[in-house]
Amino acid sequence: MRIVVIGATSAIAEHCCRLWAVEGADFVLMARDSAKLEKIAADLTVRGAKSVSLATPEFFDPAAIKAFADATLAGGAVDIVLIAHGWMPLGQDALDIASAEQVLQINAVSPVLFAEAFAGPFAQARRGTIAIIGSVAGDVTRRANYIYGGAKSLLTRYAQGLDHRLFGSGVKVVLIKPGPTDTPMTTHMKAAGQRLATPEQVAQITVDAIRRGKTTVYAPGLWRWIMLIVRHLPRPILNRLPI
Ligand SMILES: NC(=O)c1ccc[n+]([C@@H]2O[C@H](COP(=O)([O-])OP(=O)(O)OC[C@H]3O[C@@H](n4cnc5c(N)ncnc54)[C@H](OP(=O)(O)O)[C@@H]3O)[C@@H](O)[C@H]2O)c1
Repeated sequence: MRIVVIGATSAIAEHCCRLWAVEGADFVLMARDSAKLEKIAADLTVRGAKSVSLATPEFFDPAAIKAFADATLAGGAVDIVLIAHGWMPLGQDALDIASAEQVLQINAVSPVLFAEAFAGPFAQARRGTIAIIGSVAGDVTRRANYIYGGAKSLLTRYAQGLDHRLFGSGVKVVLIKPGPTDTPMTTHMKAAGQRLATPEQVAQITVDAIRRGKTTVYAPGLWRWIMLIVRHLPRPILNRLPI
């Protein structure tokens, strides 16, 4: 099994890789921080990974993203691409406009470009899974993180359309929607005493969903029902909630 992970230093992605490593997977790990990547590669090798190669290409340059995908595919068939990078800054009601653009680039534009770079070759090969980490924040956006949530909602709609495009092609599209999870992204929530899922829990659900080719999965599953209720709240009630 050959697996490409974009944003491989993400805590959730790293725990997915640990589960795949014991199955003897071959990895191509890609992230901006090569020192962190090397540590993760060494750990996965000890855990049973057959091979681990590392890449630190550009996250925002369409030509570099395409070149990365093409070079990776030239090195052998790919079974899974997991797109995991994301950034959720605090205080989005007072974010400067350049940071707002970065939030959209990191959480929406860049993940879509990586998915697109693999979608065509996967369709031609009639195989492969494109897994994208979205968020429950993409179901309903709220004042604390509405720019991040807006970007994640783009991923939700994008994944649905990509799945439509690839229907019957043999290629699977899997969208994972975690709820708040204990990773570096949520240290402020942990400090505030908020209940968080563990990255191990979310990783297990992610790996299972990819194995089964599920189109959308909430992690943990309870979030499906919570978001079903929140999505149906009338706007005057939603706007008054302290969320
Ligand atoms: N934790 C949660 O509560 C939660 C809930 C819903 C969805 N998610 C989503 O789950 C995914 C994984 O996040 P996580 O929780 O595992 O958080 P994490 O451990 O903080 O990982 C974030 C990842 O995004 C990368 N990243 C951030 N800014 C970047 C940039 N400007 N350029 C390139 N890479 C960048 C990080 O790279 P560095 O290691 O170099 O910083 C890291 O690989 C994200 O898509 C996140 O939005 C998380």
